[in-house]
Amino acid sequence: MAERETWATRLGFLLAAIGSAVGLGNIWRFPFITSENGGAAFLVVYLLAVLVIGLPAILAEFVIGRRANTSAIGAFRKLGRPGWWFVGAVGVIAAFWTLSYYSVIGGWVLRYIGGSVTGNALAAPEGYFGAISVGLSSIGTHAVFMLITIGIVALGIEDGIELATKVMVPAVVVMLVGLAVFAATLPGASEGYAFFLDPDFDVIVSNFGSVLPAAFGQALFSLSLGFSVMITYASYLGEDDSLPVDGFSIAVSNTAIGVLAGLVVLPLLFAQGIEAGGGGPGAVFVAIPTALAELPGGELVGQAVGIVFFGVILIAALSSAISLLEAAVAFLVDNYGFSRLPTAAGLGAVVFALGIPSAYDTAWLNWFDGIGVTLLLPLAVLLVVLFVGWVLGRDAIDELRTGSTSGSLASIWLWWLRTVVLAVVVIVVALNLWDLFATPDTGYYFIPSPLR
Ligand code: PFF
Repeated sequence: MAERETWATRLGFLLAAIGSAVGLGNIWRFPFITSENGGAAFLVVYLLAVLVIGLPAILAEFVIGRRANTSAIGAFRKLGRPGWWFVGAVGVIAAFWTLSYYSVIGGWVLRYIGGSVTGNALAAPEGYFGAISVGLSSIGTHAVFMLITIGIVALGIEDGIELATKVMVPAVVVMLVGLAVFAATLPGASEGYAFFLDPDFDVIVSNFGSVLPAAFGQALFSLSLGFSVMITYASYLGEDDSLPVDGFSIAVSNTAIGVLAGLVVLPLLFAQGIEAGGGGPGAVFVAIPTALAELPGGELVGQAVGIVFFGVILIAALSSAISLLEAAVAFLVDNYGFSRLPTAAGLGAVVFALGIPSAYDTAWLNWFDGIGVTLLLPLAVLLVVLFVGWVLGRDAIDELRTGSTSGSLASIWLWWLRTVVLAVVVIVVALNLWDLFATPDTGYYFIPSPLR
């Protein structure tokens, strides 16, 4: 078997991991989930979730990946605990599952860039979304998005993922800053800022049961946890990297980009008097073009801003999609010595097929998203935390210290992981299970609505 690849540079790893973390979750989901859950107060709970749960959990995945130096499922055998292989398997399955509908949404974004160029997406937002989000049109764009994803992953770690994300992540930041500056000039933008940044804690107190899992779920999803992705990416890392510094840098950048996206989306909507929140996956695709169509300066300004806005989302979505595919590809390449190109193409084709129902009908997409994010993700994180906290134990401390100067911080981290993080994730899983099985009205009902 050929020698296993590594990242060419540490920055390469960091940008790939940030590229994975920054995705539809930040630019599309985060501003809306924030506005649905009370604005600034939600932001505070979210920041807490990143710090208290997200950061310790990302370090747990890094520890598994780097110590094993192989992809997620084989990692547990390499670590001398072969019976725990299913932890990695749940993650890889979750990645596969999630990519199937993530790519469908990526396809819509692709279409919206075209719709901004022609102006059609802005002329009749609701009708446009209704037409492109279902049926053959949506299946076609889903196929194109998957093809691009496959192409990058097939090129490998250094020549594919590292190179692509080195361009993509800076591009996302530059374009988002540009959009935020533009949004600041809009009349009425200040109301958007106030809503986003001035907390009303009463909202949280009165909706504690729903705000808490929403914030923690968003934090885990946004940091790409639970899907064996961070395990896989860290497996290409060298011994001299400081995992705590890397984890902290990724968490801070990811959060900053989410907040930046909020500073674009909320002023834009408030400036046009559009109610944020509600509406499921279609919300951004209808609300944003509606706002764009009414921008001061006329149609061309709206179209130009639309191209940049959907361009940012497309790049962010792609750099996340490649990490999801990589988790599964690395498993086959590492364990069976398959070569990359046919593996990426074959797995990509299966993911495409799995996504066809979601592309065909958004009710299926909602269902896939519900199972993926509400069930598989927290379950996978729970297993990782349990494994690193209680099974790997001292080995984990040893690995976290390798290449870093963290000293006693590593012991505190392990203690925190096996108590507080574990407890909170158990609560999130329990609340989500309740949501999934016992409350049919939430839309996450276990039986997909098209079959009910
Ligand atoms: N973090 C990505 C986002 O916020 O859109 C989604 C994601 C990518 C989740 C990769 C999980 C993952 F493994």
